[in-house]
Amino acid sequence: MRRHRARSSILSTCGFLAAAALWAGCAGTGDRQASSSAPVDYVEQIQPILETNCYECHGSAVQVPSGKLRLDGRKGMLKGGRSGHPTLIPGNAADSPLYIVITGGSGDGTWRAMPPHGKRLNPDDIALIRGWIDQGATFGAQ
Ligand code: HEC
Repeated sequence: MRRHRARSSILSTCGFLAAAALWAGCAGTGDRQASSSAPVDYVEQIQPILETNCYECHGSAVQVPSGKLRLDGRKGMLKGGRSGHPTLIPGNAADSPLYIVITGGSGDGTWRAMPPHGKRLNPDDIALIRGWIDQGATFGAQ
């Protein structure tokens, strides 16, 4: 009997720790979501992400940008690339290829995952881009 009780108290300690860890995990995620619904600034927050991850192939330094898409400004994003489809649909991240490609591309192969190789964007950057598009994708002074 005593043994049983001891074991169950260990179990409940573990349960408590697991619950605490879960709570901490949830709190972390909550914070991240909260930060992406805070106003996102293109120049301060979005441009640096695109510059690091996309300009190598879609920036002004390349003569013929990959997929004929320029991502270094409003004009290129709204025009889109070879697909003829706008890359950015302000106010609608879920339907914006810009968001679809950084979250693994579309299942039907219409939109390939970007960058095509190497390191993918981290969840914080993805959340920022999503927030920025859903907030209307303004470009500040541009
Ligand atoms: C190493 C080069 C490279 C990098 C880096 C890269 N891309 Fe691409 N991207 C390509 C190529 C090549 C294509 C054309 C592929 C195709 O049409 O199948 C393309 C096509 C696209 C298209 C489709 C354009 C259209 O209208 O057809 C989108 C959207 C896109 N990229 C977004 C991005 C984003 C966003 C990033 C950064 C997160 C990125 N790419 C980084 C090479 C790159």
